[in-house]
Amino acid sequence: MRVYKLKQDLQAHLKKVLELQNAIGLVPTMGALHQGHLSLVTTALKDNEVVVVSIFVNPTQFNNQNDLHNYPRTLDSDLKLLETLKNSNIIVYAPEASDVYQDEITAQSFSFDGLEHEMEGEFRKGHFNGVATVVKNLFEIIKPHNAYFGEKDFQQLQIVRKLVEITGFDINIIGCPILRENDGLAMSSRNGRLTQEQRNVVPFIYKTLKTAKVKFGTKSANEVSEWVKSEFANHKLLALEYFTIANETTLKPVKRKNKQNKCRAFIAVFVGDVRLIDNIELN
Ligand code: PAF
Repeated sequence: MRVYKLKQDLQAHLKKVLELQNAIGLVPTMGALHQGHLSLVTTALKDNEVVVVSIFVNPTQFNNQNDLHNYPRTLDSDLKLLETLKNSNIIVYAPEASDVYQDEITAQSFSFDGLEHEMEGEFRKGHFNGVATVVKNLFEIIKPHNAYFGEKDFQQLQIVRKLVEITGFDINIIGCPILRENDGLAMSSRNGRLTQEQRNVVPFIYKTLKTAKVKFGTKSANEVSEWVKSEFANHKLLALEYFTIANETTLKPVKRKNKQNKCRAFIAVFVGDVRLIDNIELN
């Protein structure tokens, strides 16, 4: 498996791929890879002759310096995990910040029709400017035909779709389903930071989402939200940051149910200082 640290070397390789008229897939990651990432790579390998996996902890998308500092950096084990796929069509791009950002390591400011102000955007100010900046830079460097994003970060996926629409990149954005542990916990690089006690209680998040989905069959969005809040109110280890039932396209909170609009429930929960997010399709 080839690992490039410099974009000029990666681009020289990709030039040859393009000359053969082969398709390039991109799976952008911040490393600390798990089976969820591998499933994105496996999907990408089915659609593309070459798949670039970028591994880069993007500083501009962290609104909390502590979170940036504590974010796991595990390049060696990431490469070992990718090797288990035994596929020589995987290329890793693991750059330093100076290679991804041209001049200053700062986020550009974007407007995504308000998608950026909802949920994660409200609680993590500037987060999506950072995500969009790095994704745009990666798209410009790699020029993939297809790019793969997990639905765990559903708001991010919708924002990347909007980024492509606004900037006119000729790239297909493919959303991939959330991978879960056997007890329902959504796979995440942050799960590794949980203590055993915390790990034991976090399946409560998905369990609550599943019950919320059932309740949404007969109750209003507001009633379901109130029920979720009451479930978390007395929890000793889990602190609910938000629970929102939103329209999948606009990401605006749903006030009245309407069969035409697809809805999804979104949740963010603190377990100690670890912040976990999850979501579930409702209709
Ligand atoms: O989802 C992530 O891991 C990151 O937000 C991404 C898309 C790799 C950008 O840094």
